[in-house]
Amino acid sequence: MENRLTSRIIGTGSCLPENVVTNDDLSKIMDTSDEWISSRTGIRKRHLVKEETTAGMSIEAGKRALQQAGVSPEELDLIVVGTLTGDYITPSTACEVQAGLGAINATAFDINAACSGFIFGLQTVNAYISAGMCKTALVIGAETLSKIVDWNDRSTCVLFGDGAGAAVVKADTMGVLACDHGSDGAKGMYLAGLNRTNNNPLIQTDKALQYVQMDGQEVYKFAVSTVPASIQKVLDQAGLAPEDIKYYVLHQANLRILQSVAKRLKVPMDRFPISLDHCGNISAGSVPILLDEVNQKGMLQKGDKIIMSGFGGGLTWGTCLIEW
Ligand code: ACO
Repeated sequence: MENRLTSRIIGTGSCLPENVVTNDDLSKIMDTSDEWISSRTGIRKRHLVKEETTAGMSIEAGKRALQQAGVSPEELDLIVVGTLTGDYITPSTACEVQAGLGAINATAFDINAACSGFIFGLQTVNAYISAGMCKTALVIGAETLSKIVDWNDRSTCVLFGDGAGAAVVKADTMGVLACDHGSDGAKGMYLAGLNRTNNNPLIQTDKALQYVQMDGQEVYKFAVSTVPASIQKVLDQAGLAPEDIKYYVLHQANLRILQSVAKRLKVPMDRFPISLDHCGNISAGSVPILLDEVNQKGMLQKGDKIIMSGFGGGLTWGTCLIEW
């Protein structure tokens, strides 16, 4: 039998900001309501940073994942953070995590793939492991989206939350079984945010786009067509059927998207764990935070097949089928 190296998740952790903001809290500062937000999205509350930072939450999530895995920071040889809201452009969040954990033997870098960031990170780590370039890695998805949403735009700011999730990944003969990934940059401006003005006094520049802008309906159409197709691809690669999968740990953008994917796959909704009701959409943080919730609740047994899928800005999408 071929003994190809793949990657197994051996520990998870997460960290959410202390400050919880309900839909009712939002309705006091803008023209919205719990009824509008929860009926269209499934979101009831979210955690939003006050003092916490993307790196600080990432370090905490990473510590918890390392503790669960029984791995020391010095054993890590790779740290990859999926984020579009790092505290600095440089140093990367991953380098801040390296310093915060004392992971002196790790190479560290960020991946910006918006809501697919954690999955792209896991796939990158898996490729490093398969190529023999690393053995033990930390993959994180973390965001402080509340700093980049437009708080004057009720159609977007109510959707997002902050937080970080982490997974320790180790080279093994079983773990990641199949992967799919893709991008459609031509549709990138359906979900865009935050470029910078050029402050070179010799050059006249247009006004920069400050905050997140989204064409919600186009993003919705993209998600409900692309995600089931991507999931079907990994099922086909692994020779499995939708009912063989114990849980579908999907990016938490909107309950309606999850219901549509479940219907398309003919899988009951109880296979789709949900965190968006209490976390909102945390972009790259959604999948690892939800995975950690499922893991901490003891819902995963060795040998379970799980599909994780991220999708969003770029536009990008990525799916992994793993054996626990
Ligand atoms: N409270 C009250 N009313 C609101 C709010 C709000 N927070 N936001 C918008 N409205 C109003 C609008 O002003 C509009 O009013 P009008 O008809 O008088 O003009 C009406 O509600 C409908 O607005 P739409 O933007 O058309 O709302 P829609 O029905 O498309 O729902 C939503 C918006 C929930 C975002 C939907 O488009 C969607 O599910 N999109 C999927 C994409 C998604 O969830 N993206 C998240 C980030 S991307 C990602 O993570 C993949």
